[in-house]
Amino acid sequence: MISKCMFPVAGYGTRFLPATKSMPKEMLPVVNKPLVQYGVEEAIAAGMTTCAMVTGRGKRAIADHFDISYELEHQIAGTGKEAYLDSIRNVLDKGTFTMVRQREMKGLGHAILTGETLIGNEPFGVLLSDDLCLNEDGPGVLSQMVELYRQFRCSIVAIMEVPPDQTHKYGVIAGESLKDGIYRVDRMVEKPKPEDAPSNLAIIGRYILTPDIFDIIRETPPGANGEIQLTDALQTQATRGCVMAYKFKGRRFDCGSVPGFVEATDYVYNNVYQQP
Ligand code: G1P
Repeated sequence: MISKCMFPVAGYGTRFLPATKSMPKEMLPVVNKPLVQYGVEEAIAAGMTTCAMVTGRGKRAIADHFDISYELEHQIAGTGKEAYLDSIRNVLDKGTFTMVRQREMKGLGHAILTGETLIGNEPFGVLLSDDLCLNEDGPGVLSQMVELYRQFRCSIVAIMEVPPDQTHKYGVIAGESLKDGIYRVDRMVEKPKPEDAPSNLAIIGRYILTPDIFDIIRETPPGANGEIQLTDALQTQATRGCVMAYKFKGRRFDCGSVPGFVEATDYVYNNVYQQP
């Protein structure tokens, strides 16, 4: 029902310098797989087989990753090493990859608007690959959100509880709790100080957006950090219509930070990774 997922992958990854000097942060491997591939696999599992990448300068390795490497295929054909390519071949069989470049870094809202040309007039997913989400006991977070979309037919953000002193790192919501883990949003604030936060329910990098968001972003002025914020556009959407927030099932690792990345690596190595 939702066939496209947008991946804003133009960010610099300064927290991982010098590793990210000439390599996209989205290509950093968690054990043996680049961060962005975990995200793409989650999107494809949710039926979003068109992956719309909003890239930037220095990100060509991402485009190459989601393409055939003929030399490599030729080199290892018929050897025991072929199994190492299974996961990426599977992704390439199922997915289509489209790209547009964001020329200036003006915030997540601006990135989403840059990707409009790859989406058109239909609801779509957004996945921020810095947030690695795993749910070994059931469907992935985007799949869970597609189920909710069937019910509510409006934009949905994934949320989790964070300690009050962490709200300044996230978009934070407040709303009416409809049933277990599902809220109808009435307020959203991007990166509030603890004293300004409307709750401790933080948005993590999974969204389903209805396409009216593009026109709303066009009229959204710069907000926190002088950037065009998706959170501000969603606040407008919530006021005019409806935005839902959903406490997802599963684990989330903040792979945009070094400690979160190390934690994810440790977890994946011990619980998910299978040597081919
Ligand atoms: C972005 C969003 C923020 C959200 C976060 C989730 O912030 O603007 O609302 O809580 O992703 O990871 P960023 O981490 O890009 O600063």
